[in-house]
Amino acid sequence: MSTTHTSTGGQLALRGGTPIFTSPPAQQYPVFTQQARDRVLDLLDHGPMLGLSKASKVVAAAEEALARFHDVPWALCLNSGHASLHASLIGLEVAQGDEVINSPISWGASVSCILHAGAIPVFADVDPITGLLDPQSILERITPRTRAILVPHIFGQPANMTEICRIAADRGLAVVEDGSQAHGARHAGRRVGSFGDAAGFSCNGVKPVAAGEGGFMLARSDETYFRACISCQHAGGTDFPGRASEQGFPEELRPYVDSLIYSYRMSVLTAAVLPEQLGKLDQENDARNANYAVLKRELDGIGSVSFPTYPDGDECTIHMATMNFVEEHAGIDKATYIAALEAEGVPAFSYVRTPLHRLERLNPETKAPRVAWTDNLRRAGVDPRDVELPNCDRKVATSIELYFNYTTVDEDLMKRIASAFVKVEENLDELRAASTKA
Ligand SMILES: Cc1ncc(COP(=O)(O)O)c(C=O)c1O
Repeated sequence: MSTTHTSTGGQLALRGGTPIFTSPPAQQYPVFTQQARDRVLDLLDHGPMLGLSKASKVVAAAEEALARFHDVPWALCLNSGHASLHASLIGLEVAQGDEVINSPISWGASVSCILHAGAIPVFADVDPITGLLDPQSILERITPRTRAILVPHIFGQPANMTEICRIAADRGLAVVEDGSQAHGARHAGRRVGSFGDAAGFSCNGVKPVAAGEGGFMLARSDETYFRACISCQHAGGTDFPGRASEQGFPEELRPYVDSLIYSYRMSVLTAAVLPEQLGKLDQENDARNANYAVLKRELDGIGSVSFPTYPDGDECTIHMATMNFVEEHAGIDKATYIAALEAEGVPAFSYVRTPLHRLERLNPETKAPRVAWTDNLRRAGVDPRDVELPNCDRKVATSIELYFNYTTVDEDLMKRIASAFVKVEENLDELRAASTKA
């Protein structure tokens, strides 16, 4: 260990010592502005409590703010991240018989959206350090049935959209970004969500734009936007105009405007607070990044964990910090290391314990309760789990995460979190000895 770290001198909490934190090192999150509160109260007092399209002032304001922020022509408010990804695939007409290349390191909604669209997920490998999709592996997974690539910007890190979009353009494939963990992040100076043909984002309570439950889709073409609208949104009526009344609605879709829809519309309460939450995103991301920089500086020279690095022009939204455990240095296993941090009151954890391609419910012969995709997988005669992804295995084996919604700069808090890592580092010998005995 580097000599620059101040010794904590303490016995590990895991071995009966006093923990660094007796309550979790949290900051209030999310925080709502007074204006957001006023908007909610105004809606509760005066309504309208239904917003079916841009004819609703709150829906229009949220969608305009989202489209402007991401510099894309269309944003569609929806009720979850899952719905926004499903709507993206619907907007791109991804359906039965199609394959969608995706990542094993994400939240399951970036797979279940593909299954719900009737398509087959095909898993590509990732970078072993970041867990982001590896463009070379994507290339290797392309078949004549491939229709789209679904790219999660996991742990707030932007994926290599330059390469992925180039591959997609060369092969005529659609690209869907999952920005649910990376609102505001940039690749090559550009916001994530603005590269793909469509993108889905979650706004649930722990996400970088946390607006209660909700999500939104971004689209780059009128066709993608309005196709998603007719299947995911209410057509409306005379009192409450729906999406078919919006400017630019294509006449050729009018015969198909009906009530055969997924009711994926956003609550007006979420839509009311969303522009305010978005308005402070960059400032909150700056604070996240400043805190992260302190943590990394304090942990410089700690051999048991290493942090990813990023190309120039890429900016993360560190709402969850990912790092990699160096077992060869620590001489103990990752579970023991995490347990020691947890005992110090630092809630370290492994975000992906089972990579998504290994989930039992993707087994075409599963005995799990039958759901929409069970028969589809069986009929397709493929087992999405049937693939070796060595870099994914490595990331899952080494990855350690910390929730990082620290949106107020607090150097002392970061130093205390870092001191838990230092304390564990100082006591590795004891942990090694205990592991050997066990
Ligand atoms: C990467 C990713 N995609 C999609 C989702 C789904 O979002 P929601 O919970 O709003 O459906 C999440 C949520 O945790 C996520 O982290």
